[in-house]
Amino acid sequence: MLHDFDSIPSPAFILEEEKLIKNLELLSYVMQKADCSIILALKGYALWKSFPRIRTYLQGATASSLNEVRLCNEYMGSKAHTYAPAYAPHQIKEIAEQSSHISFNSLIQYELYKNICNSHNVQMALRVNPGYSDIATEMYNPCSPDSRLGIPAKELHKIPDGITGLHFHALCESNSYSLEKVLQSFEKNFGHLLSQISWINMGGGHLITHKDYNVEHLISLLKSFKLKHNVDIILEPGGAVVWQTGVLKAQVLDIVSYGSTATAILDVSFAAHMPDTLEMPYRPTVTGAEQEYKEGLFAYRLGGQTCLAGDFLDPYYFSSKLHPGDTIIFEDMMHYTMVKTTMFNGVHHPSIYILHTNGTKECVRDFTYLDYKNRMG
Ligand SMILES: Cc1ncc(COP(=O)(O)O)c(C=O)c1O
Repeated sequence: MLHDFDSIPSPAFILEEEKLIKNLELLSYVMQKADCSIILALKGYALWKSFPRIRTYLQGATASSLNEVRLCNEYMGSKAHTYAPAYAPHQIKEIAEQSSHISFNSLIQYELYKNICNSHNVQMALRVNPGYSDIATEMYNPCSPDSRLGIPAKELHKIPDGITGLHFHALCESNSYSLEKVLQSFEKNFGHLLSQISWINMGGGHLITHKDYNVEHLISLLKSFKLKHNVDIILEPGGAVVWQTGVLKAQVLDIVSYGSTATAILDVSFAAHMPDTLEMPYRPTVTGAEQEYKEGLFAYRLGGQTCLAGDFLDPYYFSSKLHPGDTIIFEDMMHYTMVKTTMFNGVHHPSIYILHTNGTKECVRDFTYLDYKNRMG
């Protein structure tokens, strides 16, 4: 069933459950064919009201903080696979109680916390730097030679007693051919240690649900790796789980023409609601608008509602003039949006809706003045 978003007030994040299920079915197929586990990275997507659906397909979630660990236990119904660059002493007990797997970013942290993890039967791993990543944006490259994330090969001479796994994360919206290159580097750097472990977490960034992803190639890669090294494999994508499963609905509030191009000022903010559009930077698709000028189209910069000068996107091109009240739909807005939003400038936070498979719409969250105020007192 195809939904239209007319009956949902702007601004709103809208999850389309039917599309989510399609993604989950594909991930489930990969798990079954490659005999691996796939878990959801909560840092990318944590809309827990949709977890009842997700947990029927995936095998849990990966957490990167105590809050995510709690959310996983509460709503995914399973202990978390946990990795953080460092764990705070006052949080480790609760993290160990509620995690099935914990990865450490340093041998020091492992030594510090191994006893408490052992006492809770936690499977422990070291996060390593596989030594290769083809992520072009430095901000998102965890594998640069100076990266603080993952022990480099030259620092790890043997697997300490008690460590049963290795963990790496080297991809970002990548295909299986990038993974293949990461695995070659990982084997080159850590291959001699693999007989001492029983599981490998290959992190996230596998964009398995992208239409051009070669799923069969991934399956054959994982199968042969597993056969060769006799290890269980875990993948922990975030973005891929909810890739192309929902939108951010916005509305034009005003049009100003102070510069060379008119700006449509919206009831949402790039800085506060879609920070990746400024940070990555990443150009979202806007339904019905072109990214490049073509004759006859009308150009508008899209302006956010905060007072930050840079809270705007470069022009999009529309087939007719925009007016206050017009709807703007930003596509593919489920991952790294709701988990990253702020209430900067006190701007109204978009509400959150789920469009269910039976056609009903559910407002799972509406934000008020109290949400803004209570963050600070
Ligand atoms: C350790 C780790 N695992 C998984 C992920 C999820 O990555 P993605 O959402 O790109 O699949 C990330 C993202 O930064 C990460 O740092």
